[in-house]
Amino acid sequence: MKKNQIELQYKKKIKLLTEYNKNYFDKNNPIVDDNDYDKLRKEILLLEKNYKFLFSKNSPSKKIGYKPSKNFKKVSHRISMLSLANAFGREDLINFEKKIFNFLSKNKDFILSYSAEPKIDGISASLIYKNGEFKIGLSRGDGKEGEDITANLATINDIPKKIKSKDFPEEIDVRGEVYIQNSDFENLKEKFANPRNAASGSLRQKNPEDTKKIPLKFIAYTFGYEKGLKAKNQTDFLKNLDDWGFKTNPLNKLVTGVDNLLINYSKIEKDRAKIDFDIDGIVYKINDFELQKRLGNVANSPRWAIAHKFASNKAISKILNIEIQIGRTGALTPVAKIKPINIGGVVVSNATLHNEDEIDRKDIRIGDLATIERAGDVIPHILSVDKTKRDKKSLQFIFPKNCPSCGSKTIKEFNNVTKKEDAVRRCSSEGYDCEKIAIEKLKHFVSKEALNIEGFGKKIVENFWKLNLIKLPQDIFNLDFKKIENLEGWGKQSMENLRYSINQRKNISLERLIYSLGIRHIGLENAKILSKYFKSFYNFINFSNEINSDDILNIDGIGETQLQSVKNFFNNKVNLNILKDLQKILVVKNITTKNKNGLLNAKTFMVTGKLNGISRAEVKSLIEENSGSSVSTVSKKLDYLIIGDKPTKKKVDKAIEFKITILNQSQFLKLLNITS
Ligand code: IVH
Repeated sequence: MKKNQIELQYKKKIKLLTEYNKNYFDKNNPIVDDNDYDKLRKEILLLEKNYKFLFSKNSPSKKIGYKPSKNFKKVSHRISMLSLANAFGREDLINFEKKIFNFLSKNKDFILSYSAEPKIDGISASLIYKNGEFKIGLSRGDGKEGEDITANLATINDIPKKIKSKDFPEEIDVRGEVYIQNSDFENLKEKFANPRNAASGSLRQKNPEDTKKIPLKFIAYTFGYEKGLKAKNQTDFLKNLDDWGFKTNPLNKLVTGVDNLLINYSKIEKDRAKIDFDIDGIVYKINDFELQKRLGNVANSPRWAIAHKFASNKAISKILNIEIQIGRTGALTPVAKIKPINIGGVVVSNATLHNEDEIDRKDIRIGDLATIERAGDVIPHILSVDKTKRDKKSLQFIFPKNCPSCGSKTIKEFNNVTKKEDAVRRCSSEGYDCEKIAIEKLKHFVSKEALNIEGFGKKIVENFWKLNLIKLPQDIFNLDFKKIENLEGWGKQSMENLRYSINQRKNISLERLIYSLGIRHIGLENAKILSKYFKSFYNFINFSNEINSDDILNIDGIGETQLQSVKNFFNNKVNLNILKDLQKILVVKNITTKNKNGLLNAKTFMVTGKLNGISRAEVKSLIEENSGSSVSTVSKKLDYLIIGDKPTKKKVDKAIEFKITILNQSQFLKLLNITS
């Protein structure tokens, strides 16, 4: 082959790998499976080995992953940038409304108004204005900390740089979506896979002059921190945004009730193709800010908003194999390897099959032609298989009765709440004893919402595991960096980057640490509750001495299932050693209650009976906002028992026996200076 042909081939491969990296590292949305990725990487390295004249700064021999974020300074959002929960149909919406009714303690006749806003599929940004001037522009980042991309955002014409309106707040973070119109994307097709990629890539240019060349647009739809905002609801706020010179979505609408939301949804979905930007659903926000405030957030998303996604794209392809993946909690998830197929601009070669029951119910077999659906960022899944086109010799798929990784028996647990056997089959081995579970636990440990070690991706965990560099979480802090520097694909700079990222994360909040341990049933929300309860890593570790006593974990929000799971965690010696080692390495920030001088400082509360016009969940938030805590059983340590209608007699009797102060609803609200 001629030199220029080789070079061309090499460049093509580098371009493809860069695209894979971008999707994997930047968007957390891999577009190829591991095998294909590794194959391409090896081909590039082999070409370089055979032809010394080949060179690219994007070669895997020069860098780890794709990390454009290194170019930008990190800045904390004054108010976190949350994401949204998804709804896929009427049932989800009714559920969403029901939860709101419950939380606000309203009955079904209460009419909720929503701001229904088509959800642009772009990149969100937060623009900080002080005294009418655009000061700083941040990307979303991990929601808590974004990148300072002020210079790039400033090139966008839709972003006002100076606002003179009298009613413009003294300070405000205006938030919205940066996107590219489909008509403008026509000219960028060569460079990017889709408009969203193009917007993201352009925003992250090192040189703002490069960003300027791309016709980026901005639509504003919400705010973060504010001082002096007068609007009382979302529609008024959107109107304000218009008056102040921002662009808002012309299809935004005020809608009441789920039925009307669905009518609006169908209309917009029908006209979707006619709109000059990509929308992937409609965001519904409770219009009234006062209600939004009362509803607050759960973990990463507000209770007062939801994204109603549009039906996805579908395609038909052949199931080449069914593989069993083992998750960090031991769940065996079947994955269909399918003949790669392009669904809505993304090459799909894997589709989840959810669990054993799903395979049985749909009778999915290797060799079948399947309809695969891909919706937004959700992992593609198999809708159905065509049994008429099936080979007569095809066999039913038998789910493994032993863990494919460690050979332990696989089990289906009995769920005490639903009184049914779980649909999910699990490896019965304990955590780190099963290789696959251990690797998944480590991936979770370093992941974004856990320790958040930048650059320590899934591939690196797998690789380091194979090389015996890490087996347990604490090993991450004792890595042999000399060895890493000399590994294929690594160098001094990439090794130093990793060392830096790891060291940075030695200071960590208790909440993140508990979450990163990957205790089953302890997600972000429960980790937060536990951290508030334990207050320090020391208390958390010492909990292992108490776990078998009865008087433990009387925390509202931590149920029997979670408690059992925490107990199991502490009953495992490997876990205890991990904690002991981590204690020596990490600096864990103790919890200091946000509002230390809150009206209910350090007092514990419990509610029994039905309250009037206020839900249990809201009472709990009120207590916590005022530095108290709510518990789930009456003990001597309880300070107040709040009683509503039809309280549980046993609880009241016990409270009297322990001489605990009993409050009715209005006495409780009086403590908070709220008059009912
Ligand atoms: S509100 C807490 N409004 O959707 C509220 N988001 O999954 C969150 N998005 O990161 C933001 N259009 O990038 C909101 N009208 C709209 C939106 C919108 C698009 C995006 C945004 C956000 C994501 C949430």
